[in-house]
Amino acid sequence: MNKNTSGRIPLDGNIERGAAVTIDINGKPVTAYLGESVATALLSEEIVAMRTTTLGESRGVFCGMGVCFDCLVVVDGKPNTRACMTWVKEGMDIRTQDGLKATN
Ligand code: FES
Repeated sequence: MNKNTSGRIPLDGNIERGAAVTIDINGKPVTAYLGESVATALLSEEIVAMRTTTLGESRGVFCGMGVCFDCLVVVDGKPNTRACMTWVKEGMDIRTQDGLKATN
């Protein structure tokens, strides 16, 4: 069993996680698990506000299925990536996004 699960539900023997990978969220290395979405990794690190609108309002996961575009983040330098539709990979660099322009 993986011990560093951050905000994830504890494993009880009925569910399994994919292999642990190290990703970078806003400059901080964290553990995520293959099979998780970027949104899951962010929420597990208690990052609910994934982007801001052009007016500076916070947005995060709303639909969770790729429709609303409220979860846009910067992944490996590519802005406007839907966190709920992107799966984590080893070494992935994830940044929260400010408006329509990538930050950080
Ligand atoms: S939460 Fe709606 S597109 Fe990702």
